[in-house]
Amino acid sequence: MTNHGWILERRPVEKLDADCFAWREVALPAVEPGSVRVKTLMLSLDPTNRIWASPVESYLPPVPLGEVMRGIAVGVVEESADPRWKAGDLVQGMLGWQERAVVPGASIIGLPPGLTPEQWFAVFSHIGLTAYFGLLDVGKAKAGETLVVSAAAGAVGSLVGQIGKNIGMRVVGIAGGAEKCRWITEELGFDAAIDYKNEDVGQRLRELCPAGIDVDFENVGGEILDACLGRLALRGRVVLCARRAEESGERADATRPH
Ligand SMILES: NC(=O)c1ccc[n+]([C@@H]2O[C@H](COP(=O)([O-])OP(=O)(O)OC[C@H]3O[C@@H](n4cnc5c(N)ncnc54)[C@H](OP(=O)(O)O)[C@@H]3O)[C@@H](O)[C@H]2O)c1
Repeated sequence: MTNHGWILERRPVEKLDADCFAWREVALPAVEPGSVRVKTLMLSLDPTNRIWASPVESYLPPVPLGEVMRGIAVGVVEESADPRWKAGDLVQGMLGWQERAVVPGASIIGLPPGLTPEQWFAVFSHIGLTAYFGLLDVGKAKAGETLVVSAAAGAVGSLVGQIGKNIGMRVVGIAGGAEKCRWITEELGFDAAIDYKNEDVGQRLRELCPAGIDVDFENVGGEILDACLGRLALRGRVVLCARRAEESGERADATRPH
């Protein structure tokens, strides 16, 4: 069976872009006992992909040059030699950026019945888990508290703010541009938004969080984190999900935490 995938050919210098990859034929191993062949239906393209493509050790080793790019994907089982799976099952796993993958049956999980791949990636999966456990377990968020979330219109931030509203928090989102700020307040129900591209974040935090910030869910770092730290309430908590401003191309060093 012919299989193709995106091969990591070059390390990113600044942005991770198309020049880093080449679409090539990729050999598929046989389906041995305990393994399954999965056809990719949908890939999750995440900010962390840039870290994986960089030559730095982080929570996972770098993807070797010349190999299929690592990636989380939803797929459908085509052939199974693992009694846990049968043809037609919808599953998620580290399938990589390729049309098909042969992976151990123990390395994949099934999607709950009735969920589409879009719903799975949008709300559940690694994004939803990060938002839910980051806010509630790490941040120990409680009703009546003030939550500030940065990159608030992003995948993680938009869920964090909605979970915060659902448990009865006052939620302020920080996002870039009027359109994103309108979306998080008018459609997602955040109490307020700060447009960091056009407003003074420190000043707006003073106005919107007069009693301080109880939980800062931090996706950006840098100057935004500094402004939030300056407004932290007594016994306030910071969930350091990401330091995006420091992770991105302008500081591609080996020290970025995740
Ligand atoms: N720790 C974990 O387990 C975990 C899990 C998932 C994700 N994450 C991290 O959480 C962060 C958010 O993830 P996501 O999936 O929500 O991302 P996303 O949907 O791609 O949203 C990222 C947003 O960050 C904002 N941003 C601010 N400063 C930026 C900069 N210097 N460069 C690029 N974007 C910048 C941009 O929105 P504006 O236009 O509003 O600035 C951008 O749209 C990422 O850094 C990701 O690596 C961590």
